[in-house]
Amino acid sequence: MSILLREVTASDLPLFFEQQLDPEANHMAAFTTKDPADRPAFMERWNRLLTDDTIMKKTVLFEDRVAGHVMSFTAPWSDYLEVSFWLGKEFWGRGIATKALDLFLGCQTMRPLHARAAKDNHASIRVLEKCGFKHQGADRGFANARDREIDEVVLNLAPDGGSSSLPSTQSAARY
Ligand SMILES: CC(C)(COP(=O)(O)OP(=O)(O)OC[C@H]1O[C@@H](n2cnc3c(N)ncnc32)[C@H](O)[C@@H]1OP(=O)(O)O)[C@@H](O)C(=O)NCCC(=O)NCCS
Repeated sequence: MSILLREVTASDLPLFFEQQLDPEANHMAAFTTKDPADRPAFMERWNRLLTDDTIMKKTVLFEDRVAGHVMSFTAPWSDYLEVSFWLGKEFWGRGIATKALDLFLGCQTMRPLHARAAKDNHASIRVLEKCGFKHQGADRGFANARDREIDEVVLNLAPDGGSSSLPSTQSAARY
């Protein structure tokens, strides 16, 4: 099974757009943009990400196909370096996200790294746990994809494998 990371290119964006339209994926990720079908807004956001060198973003390749992406960014809601990931549905359930995040952690070596997931996003939480993230705390925020406030969990990967203090947050779209 070949899983590789490479830099994101503009030619990946139409596929990323299609991948983030999936309703089940939106429900899982929960803290999405208000309207994932808004293509101009998606393109504008991603074109901003592509020119921002403080954001590390990698395309996940599975058998040479674009399966999704992994990125790290300084979160405006916490000022902490956070990771996020998203795969097209056809690639779920094959260990791809776990391997991709593991590879990403070899590229993004800054620690601590934080991550957030809806409390019921068991797949995402499991991916993070398998890559060494520890549960750090809980939070609540407004989730656009659910149109209500929901519980979320905060995890982190500290330099020593322990967990660091919990950042305070505000509601915002995370993906
Ligand atoms: C979350 C996501 C990246 C997981 O990708 P994936 O490639 O299917 O994950 P993996 O195959 O590496 O699975 C990792 C673990 O999660 C478990 N898992 C996968 N889907 C699951 C589900 N729906 N419920 C519970 N556990 C699940 C797997 O069994 C595996 O654990 P195990 O090795 O102990 O059995 C993918 O579902 C996705 O992109 N979802 C939409 C976007 C999203 O939620 N992003 C994260 C936002 S925080």
